[in-house]
Amino acid sequence: MSVVPYKNQKEGKKQQVANMFNNISKNYDLLNHVLSLGIDIIWRKKAIKMLQEDKPKLILDIATGTGDFAIEALALKPEKIIGVDISEGMLNEGRKKMKQKKLDHLIELQMGDSEKLLFEENKFDAVIVSFGVRNFENLEKGLADMYRVLKPGGKTVILEFSTPKKFPMKQAYSFYFKYILPQIGKIVSKDNSAYTYLPESVKAFPDGNDFINILERVGFKKTQCKTLTFGISSIYVGIK
Ligand SMILES: C[S@@+](CC[C@H](N)C(=O)[O-])C[C@H]1O[C@@H](n2cnc3c(N)ncnc32)[C@H](O)[C@@H]1O
Repeated sequence: MSVVPYKNQKEGKKQQVANMFNNISKNYDLLNHVLSLGIDIIWRKKAIKMLQEDKPKLILDIATGTGDFAIEALALKPEKIIGVDISEGMLNEGRKKMKQKKLDHLIELQMGDSEKLLFEENKFDAVIVSFGVRNFENLEKGLADMYRVLKPGGKTVILEFSTPKKFPMKQAYSFYFKYILPQIGKIVSKDNSAYTYLPESVKAFPDGNDFINILERVGFKKTQCKTLTFGISSIYVGIK
């Protein structure tokens, strides 16, 4: 049974995840930075650095949300970035941001599902995802479709929460995630479930070697996992 945001609702994970992000979209950026004490910004920068030598021209940012990972990827000086997401609310916030920052000619945000990408195969030089894969309804299907649209030799970079394994970070993190984060999240987002879903979905996520095994199963080669900040987050890399 997969972890879903609203346990008493009948809809599947995908629809519930889209609804949840629609509900919190207006407060998402603020909550992200407050709850992570701004570390999420550093993590995205580190992840994008993994593509520095590849100089990708066309990048696909999956689960782009309000587009922060896509904006970070501009450091690579690509010709174009396409961001896709299943939440119209998040995309709308992202589109406003791109307009304000005058980036809408470089970053295009579209409705799109990781498991059924509407792009031909071998199209993108790089496919990136930050804090998205944990929310996929079918993780393996999503990763396989990312592989399909990537050019041979192209790279995927995935940033996702992971669970610290060592004392005392393991205990400190578990306390923060279980007792503090859901309370702040609830007050600011006014969505009672969103920030209980966050720690539950991180706990259920196959991180580290388990994730590497799935990446390899769908075809990625030369895989790597790099842990950040005592293992709170990890960057995964794979080549097609
Ligand atoms: C935590 S947000 C991350 C947004 C952004 N990448 C960032 O770093 O801030 C997760 C996003 O994944 C999106 N998402 C979940 N499942 C998806 C799917 N199957 N296809 C596309 N987007 C999906 C959600 O709608 C949400 O906007």
